[in-house]
Amino acid sequence: MNRGLENIVIKGLGAHVPERVLTNDDLSKIVDTSDEWIRTRTGIGERRIAASGEATSDLCVRAAQLAIEDAKIEAKDIDLIILGTLAPDMLTPATAMFVQHKLGIKNIPCFDFGAACSGFQYGLEISRMMLLNPKYKNVLLICGDKLSSVTDWQDRTTCVLFADGAGAVVLSREPGCQCGIVDVLIGSDGEHSDILSIPAGGSREPASEQTIRERKHYWRMDGREVFRLAVQKMGESMVEILERNNLTINDINHVVTHQANIRIMDAIANRLAIPPEKARVTLDKFGNTSASSIIITIDHYRKCNVISQGELILTAGFGAGLTWGSAIIRL
Ligand code: UT7
Repeated sequence: MNRGLENIVIKGLGAHVPERVLTNDDLSKIVDTSDEWIRTRTGIGERRIAASGEATSDLCVRAAQLAIEDAKIEAKDIDLIILGTLAPDMLTPATAMFVQHKLGIKNIPCFDFGAACSGFQYGLEISRMMLLNPKYKNVLLICGDKLSSVTDWQDRTTCVLFADGAGAVVLSREPGCQCGIVDVLIGSDGEHSDILSIPAGGSREPASEQTIRERKHYWRMDGREVFRLAVQKMGESMVEILERNNLTINDINHVVTHQANIRIMDAIANRLAIPPEKARVTLDKFGNTSASSIIITIDHYRKCNVISQGELILTAGFGAGLTWGSAIIRL
């Protein structure tokens, strides 16, 4: 059942969301919206927002410390840090560098990658490939975003969705272990790069008075098109990964998709005949935290004793790019 990359296990997992809660009612005081609209159209009840002095790396460090503790190792045992983010502390250096420093680790390689909300699946694929090299023993994969820093708080079509958070996993080779990453499937289509983007601030449109005036440093989104492609691409990738591992939804204990919109999750559940009792949702509490949303959800249900060691989890994500991916993990 494992596709040739045996025994890459999740040795530790941790997640962190900021303390400050922003409710739908709070948002209705900022933009023309309502708790009723947000709940029925998205499934979001409230979300967490980082403090103004907090950066993405601060959220990531907390999640990383929890994952390292959960793995029962020390920070010095980590030999590679891979960080997926779309809201880096700075354009350069990589946010992974700030995390490395704050964790008190030196000399190990660290880098960021950009797969937006599909970061967990992309990160798993990169990590397990790196772990084929025996010089890496404990890879720290972190997904984190202070999305509130790239959210247009005047745009009701996006600001009700996004939130801040981070998740981390420690991945290691464990020969003979029955658990681990069963398979990962990732894909992308750059034709759809314009439907979900932060247009300015890069080399194409560096920051200028005009880009600031035109609010181009924030999310621009064609919500309906993202919705349509999310259902299509996530659905297809989940079907494919199940089929190529000779599994059906009956074999899966928990389905954890990217927490973007409850109606996207419902459409996927209909398409794959996922029983409601297998679908794990934290969107109502934490909103859309990008790539960390899957780790945050697994962490939440593990703490509630709903997800247990040894169970089979099907995850799927989609995001700006357009990117998508799915993964089957035995925890
Ligand atoms: O990680 C990936 C991130 N992105 C996504 O996951 C986005 C995927 N797309 C979606 O989740 C949905 O498309 C949205 C939640 C963004 C929008 O829901 P929708 O059912 O597709 O609404 P719509 O865009 O078709 O808009 C319906 C109406 C419009 O009013 P009119 O033109 O019918 O008068 C919007 O202006 O709802 C209005 N509207 C709002 N009303 C109250 C849009 N946003 C809001 C709002 N509050 N926050």
